[in-house]
Amino acid sequence: MKVLGIESSCDETGVAIYDNRDGLLAQALHTQVDLHAVYGGVVPELASRDHIRLLPALIRQTLDEAGLAVADLDAIAYTAGPGLAGALLVGASVAEAMAMAAGIPALPVHHLEGHLLSPLLSDDPPAFPFVALLVSGGHTQLMRVSDVGDYELLGETLDDAAGEAFDKTAKILGLGYPGGPQLAALAARGRGGRFRLPRPLLHSGDLDFSFSGLKTAVLNVVSSPDWQPDWCADLATDFQQAVVDVLTAKAAAALKRTGLRALVVAGGVGANLALRATLDTAAGRLGARTYYPAPALCTDNGVMIAFAAAQRLARGEAPRGDAVIQVRPRWALAGLARPGASKPGADT
Ligand code: KG4
Ligand code: ZN
Repeated sequence: MKVLGIESSCDETGVAIYDNRDGLLAQALHTQVDLHAVYGGVVPELASRDHIRLLPALIRQTLDEAGLAVADLDAIAYTAGPGLAGALLVGASVAEAMAMAAGIPALPVHHLEGHLLSPLLSDDPPAFPFVALLVSGGHTQLMRVSDVGDYELLGETLDDAAGEAFDKTAKILGLGYPGGPQLAALAARGRGGRFRLPRPLLHSGDLDFSFSGLKTAVLNVVSSPDWQPDWCADLATDFQQAVVDVLTAKAAAALKRTGLRALVVAGGVGANLALRATLDTAAGRLGARTYYPAPALCTDNGVMIAFAAAQRLARGEAPRGDAVIQVRPRWALAGLARPGASKPGADT
């Protein structure tokens, strides 16, 4: 079964073709980083326009690379949410129109389901059930994943997402957009321990997170009269350590609470090397293992969308087939239906 997947929820335009039998056949990815960098963050209207500009060419390129025509596809999948409404609508409209013209089903996919299933694409994939730590620019969640479409929310952030905290702190430190990778690079050059930053909700006894106070603590340090600009790298190191400590403690608590021995880490912040090293050690202490997507699949891409849809179709999901273009800018992952069931996803 050959599925073309389209990702357009934020600032990456991603297209890929995944075949249940032969694996990944082709992919194309365009990042809008340069477009938004001058504004210091994603401008939704510009994101939508750029998706419109590039999506047809990327689809053409992906089909050519796979040596396929639209008629050879079995389904077209697209990110239906969560994400920026206008950006999502571009992918949804193109996918639904192409599918209707070709007489094949279109499949709306949950963006976070794409992220958390992407480690299954590796050579050494985890087996169900596992704990998933989803750490992206918009979400920070711990889930119990029993199967494709069977997700139980264990805990989530009450305010900023981990990636958002990285991005906002990077801005405070005068780094460019996107801040996460730049802050991580600066942190690698700093020496930890100069600043005492909070570990929000570390001892809350639940699996929830809170990161907005941490960003404010960084702002207070930078605004103090004693602040010296050459402390930036040290502050980045201490900030990163605070985020890593909380994410690791909660992920370890989730492993203990569920009794599971596999931890999947997905989403852009999962690319952070300090986080990976600490999670690996903590999981190892519990006799558990960590699983990460390939580095290229950590941030947004079309492969994870094509793959998630292919998994659902292989498990008997019946696409709606009504060509209704509907996106869900906010969409709870735990509300998803298992493939084949008809429970609609709940909005949050
Ligand atoms: O999953 P993703 O590509 O997009 C969303 O769905 O949000 O995640 C993007 C987020 C951004 O906040 C970015 O700053 C962060 O992931 N990020 C990182 C690193 N690489 C990306 N944060 C910390 N360390 C990194 N190495
Ligand atoms: Zn994402």
